[in-house]
Amino acid sequence: MLRQSMVIIFFMCVSSDTQIITIDDTGGLGRRFDGIGGLSGGGATSRLLVNYPDKQRNEILDYLFQPNFGASLHILKVEIGGDAQSTDGTEASHMHNSWEENYERGYEWWLMVEAKKRNPDIKLYGLPWAFPGWVGAGTRSPYTNPEMTATYIIKWIQGALKYYNLTIDYVGIWNERSYDIKYTKVLRQMLDKSGFQNVRIVAADGNWTPVSTDILKDAELASAIDIIGVHYPGTNTIADAVATGKQLWASEDYSTFNDNVGAGCWARILNQNYVNGDMTSTISWNLIASYYSALPYDRDGLMTANSPWSGYYRVESPIWITAHTTQFTSPGWTYLGKKQGVQFLPGGGSIVSLASQDRMDLTVIIETMSHNHSLCIRPFLPPYEVRQQNITIQLKGTFAKVQKLYVWHSKLSFDDQQPSTLFENLGPFHVVNGELQIYLGIDEIYTLTTLATGQKGTYTDPPAPTPFPLPYMETFEEYKENAEPSNFAQQTGSFEVISLKYLSSPVNSGVMPFSSSLHVLRQVVQQPPVAWCDAENVKASINIIGNSSWTDLYVQVDAMTGQVNASDGVFVATRVANLGCEAFEAVGVFFFLFPDKKKYEVTGDLARTQLIANGNADAKTGWNTLGLLVKNNLAVGTLNGQELFGLMLPEKTSKMGFAALGTGSFGIADFDNFQIRDGKDGENYLINKLNTYKQKKDDFNLYFKPGQY
Ligand SMILES: *[C@@H]1O[C@H](CO)[C@@H](O)[C@H](O)[C@H]1NC(C)=O
Ligand SMILES: *[C@@H]1O[C@H](CO)[C@@H](O)[C@H](O)[C@H]1NC(C)=O
Ligand SMILES: *[C@@H]1O[C@H](CO)[C@@H](O)[C@H](O)[C@H]1NC(C)=O
Ligand SMILES: *[C@@H]1O[C@H](CO)[C@@H](O)[C@H](O)[C@H]1NC(C)=O
Ligand SMILES: *[C@@H]1O[C@H](CO)[C@@H](O)[C@H](O)[C@H]1NC(C)=O
Repeated sequence: MLRQSMVIIFFMCVSSDTQIITIDDTGGLGRRFDGIGGLSGGGATSRLLVNYPDKQRNEILDYLFQPNFGASLHILKVEIGGDAQSTDGTEASHMHNSWEENYERGYEWWLMVEAKKRNPDIKLYGLPWAFPGWVGAGTRSPYTNPEMTATYIIKWIQGALKYYNLTIDYVGIWNERSYDIKYTKVLRQMLDKSGFQNVRIVAADGNWTPVSTDILKDAELASAIDIIGVHYPGTNTIADAVATGKQLWASEDYSTFNDNVGAGCWARILNQNYVNGDMTSTISWNLIASYYSALPYDRDGLMTANSPWSGYYRVESPIWITAHTTQFTSPGWTYLGKKQGVQFLPGGGSIVSLASQDRMDLTVIIETMSHNHSLCIRPFLPPYEVRQQNITIQLKGTFAKVQKLYVWHSKLSFDDQQPSTLFENLGPFHVVNGELQIYLGIDEIYTLTTLATGQKGTYTDPPAPTPFPLPYMETFEEYKENAEPSNFAQQTGSFEVISLKYLSSPVNSGVMPFSSSLHVLRQVVQQPPVAWCDAENVKASINIIGNSSWTDLYVQVDAMTGQVNASDGVFVATRVANLGCEAFEAVGVFFFLFPDKKKYEVTGDLARTQLIANGNADAKTGWNTLGLLVKNNLAVGTLNGQELFGLMLPEKTSKMGFAALGTGSFGIADFDNFQIRDGKDGENYLINKLNTYKQKKDDFNLYFKPGQY
């Protein structure tokens, strides 16, 4: 095995055991290169990023977006929030209801602004996964009233410009769901009429067909769509797509655990999506894994930042794989022709070559990823072989005059004893007579470029990771209106901080005096969305927080329904699991209060099919304080400081999971003064706070047997 110090690039007479690769622009060029991107959303994949301390947050943003620093991305694709679950959470819509608009919700605005701050040339691309219910015009489709849906999307594009001076470059149709010819044409016409002729339509963020075949049949559709964007193409295209003459993109790809196999996947598809499939842009789902590990697709981002309370994050190897292409190219560069610097290598792997618009600069990226070390999550990768090989690069045409190439090298290691080499600057090499020979090992990447500008950016190590801090208190006072509070990860419904300055103060909690800055957390979704997945089948809302391994816990919250369009009931819960698109069957220990009916329920699931107990509850009009202590197989519920129930949980009840709050149906409800304590602390807290608990301690001995914990 070659040691790092033995990486060989040599410039010499061509030996017999070498394959010649010609890089030549004389016979014409290939397609325009559109850039490498990352996708925030689809859904809520950046949720925890926004909560990081400023210092680490800025460092992370630099690793993603700063030119010549890290991933230096060319494209930022974001979800146009639809108030519905879109994989790891729900993202807020700019129009929860038809009668209002707001451009301060969620975190995608913030992220786009931060990306542009670092790279004013970054391209922005918006795509909806789901839509608020009203956009469906009484149906579960966004195409029932195409003008209304187009207006909704154009308002988002206008909002970006008006409130953030952000120019949106690309917009999509409906992520991985049906696309609609009529709607696509209406969207194009209305964009043009609204002054957004430069916003290009990508369709259909799904499969190659039927969009490619439809474009071939329909000239008006062909002129409406600029780019055919497909997901997880496995580097393959189809003849009909090529025949359209459109730019072809892997508008969502990767989605692989971000270890070195993930890096291998990313390296292979970044090159081969063009070599094999003529795709001129590849966009990673997701940009950054900033969601709780227990949610679906843990760490399927270019880097990981899911511990905002500690500030810990990880710059994973896919960041440096990205840098090999992004730091030495820009959208608008052009690929060279096939077999003219774009091809598979004789010993396995691939090479792409790109020229700047003026053809003054050349960048060549070579990858030799082996099969088992470059598997992506999907699709199936047919077996192939890669072996060590020598190649001789011959520079011809405009590039015959190149004298010097800067060389960057990575070698992914799959041996614990051997560290990987990631984006190492090997410095400039002189090209002799337009020729250089390179020894290529396996699982390596080389960039050869005329540009002297690359940099492996670095910051000092972030703080070490720590467990989610307990006890945890949240009054929602420190947030701006419309913000999503730190560490909460909504799974159905949409929750945002609002100010109750014109409403009366909480009646019962006694914690919060009336004040002009009185903030609460409000669930705002009033009707089921035009959903992306099955999560909303439960027709309830749920917002989780904390640690998926929590077992014994005390959670408490003040909650209020009873306003206009109120939800049917509110809940606090512990041991919550089974989230993302499966949230319709989320399990846990749920304490529901139905203030209007003066009833409560304890259930083992969000859908309330696993009833554990129910009964009357002396709920007040206005605010009520719900407390839930779960220890071992025991649950104690309190309402406004009084014990409401103490019970033994059935054996099949969920044993661990997040804390949560939410509502029993869609509809408005407010939450305040949320707290979480670990089991022992929680019990002490109850003993101190709850007179009846103290008095009735003997009764509770039925449940809390001495010495049990
Ligand atoms: C808005 O953005 C454009 C670039 O897209 C820039 O030229 C202009 O100065 C910006 N305007 C303001 C007010 O920041
Ligand atoms: C690749 O992985 C498969 C399945 O684990 C294994 O059978 C095969 O030997 C591996 N190939 C190489 C070259 O390591
Ligand atoms: C690569 O070239 C070097 C120098 O000519 C030679 O020693 C080596 O055997 C070659 N390796 C392969 C895999 O062809
Ligand atoms: C979650 O809790 C477990 C068990 O208490 C602990 O080991 C782990 O570090 C915690 N993780 C986070 C991210 O808080
Ligand atoms: C309540 O719902 C009705 C009917 O959808 C709507 O007209 C009204 O504006 C809603 N009120 C609030 C406060 O959302």
